[in-house]
Amino acid sequence: MALPLRRFEPSKIELLRERFIAAWARTDEIFAIVPTTAMLSKPIVWRHPFIFYVGHLPAFSWNQICGAILKWNSFSPYFDDLFCRGIDPDVDTGECHWHPEVPEQWPRLGDVVAYRDNVRGAILDSLEAIAHCGSTDVMAQRGRVFNMALEHEYMHHETLLYTMQQLPLDKKQRLEPLPRYSFQSRANQRQIAIPAGKARLGAKFTDTVFGWDNEFGERVVDVPSFNIDCLPVTNAEFFDFLDSGAYDDQRYWRPEDWRWKMLEEKTHPTCWTKRDDDWLYRTLFDVLPLAGVLSWPVYVCLAEARAYACWRGKRLPTEAEFHRAAFYGPDGRESAYPWGDATPEKYHGNFDFNRWFPMPVGANPAGNSRWGVAELVGNGWELTDTEFAPLPGFSPYMKSYPDYSQDFFDGKHFVLKGGSWATGTDLLRSSFRNWYQAHYPYVFAKFRCVSV
Ligand SMILES: [Fe+2]
Repeated sequence: MALPLRRFEPSKIELLRERFIAAWARTDEIFAIVPTTAMLSKPIVWRHPFIFYVGHLPAFSWNQICGAILKWNSFSPYFDDLFCRGIDPDVDTGECHWHPEVPEQWPRLGDVVAYRDNVRGAILDSLEAIAHCGSTDVMAQRGRVFNMALEHEYMHHETLLYTMQQLPLDKKQRLEPLPRYSFQSRANQRQIAIPAGKARLGAKFTDTVFGWDNEFGERVVDVPSFNIDCLPVTNAEFFDFLDSGAYDDQRYWRPEDWRWKMLEEKTHPTCWTKRDDDWLYRTLFDVLPLAGVLSWPVYVCLAEARAYACWRGKRLPTEAEFHRAAFYGPDGRESAYPWGDATPEKYHGNFDFNRWFPMPVGANPAGNSRWGVAELVGNGWELTDTEFAPLPGFSPYMKSYPDYSQDFFDGKHFVLKGGSWATGTDLLRSSFRNWYQAHYPYVFAKFRCVSV
């Protein structure tokens, strides 16, 4: 039987109100990086211009909460539709899932901001309204729809930031104050043996307050023994790969990855550039000498990571190997996070905007897994070579967003785990799965190698 949400305690409503206000403050802080004159910029060809996302975040929340469940009258049916869904085309073919038609001219920023503010007010009103609406919709129960809207906002914080990283520095406004960069690594690379054992993927629907459809159901798998790098690959290590000529050597690339590399004329990771003879590294707000950030994890796409691993005679971990290395320990016990069950804190890793850029690898040993594997969560998503696919028992249970995952079970998307400096703490749960195409090179994504 459906649980009535009137069991929502007042304290939970107040907590949700605080979480929405904090999420919107972060959203506004991120959009402040882009001057109004650059709102129509589109630094990644596979994404919409920034103006779309100003409208998309409120439209998504409105459609899911006030539209689908409460059936409230809209402030703007045109904006609800225009901004309802973004784009994520196949980067090899340009084909895209269904999305609203792109208008010849985007609406004026002032009108979109007014819509956003109206929606934000309505969302705060909806907290009480949903608690008392008596809806039997599963999304109305246990605050699921609110968590969905919040997590959607958190995920877009990150996608906006990696898009903004592609925007030229003179088109951006620097946020102040920012933490200082750190460059010194105190950790050394080594491999850690993980014995054969079990790993649990996914979660039980009834055990979670909220999870996206692709996190359910649950599957326990046997994972054979393997050896995993205790640290992610650094810019220094990847530079050796480039310097050896192997980045441009077809023998180390899968055929489909090599085709992409040649077509895109890729000669180095996306956040590296070469000016005269000097290698440079682009962060969100600065261009630094690559020599200064050699201790940071290299951010690459899966195709580049696979080639590096092949050059080293290794491979990337599977999703199951990641789970085994991250959430289990030598005693066989499972934990919520690599370091145990303690709530994520700053000292566990570089996530939730502790920094607005990477840190030297291994800088937070308190976040090591119980096997001693460092920063499986934070400082960059961890690429796996596991295709993004439904877990057994998958159901598109979010009736007002049935295509959230299904459009991407296409054999071209792969699972990423962990989180980056721009990943909100709520998304660090063990069942959360991120996914990207192997040839999408903009994500704050790092990797490490395994061997058997
Ligand atoms: Fe979205």
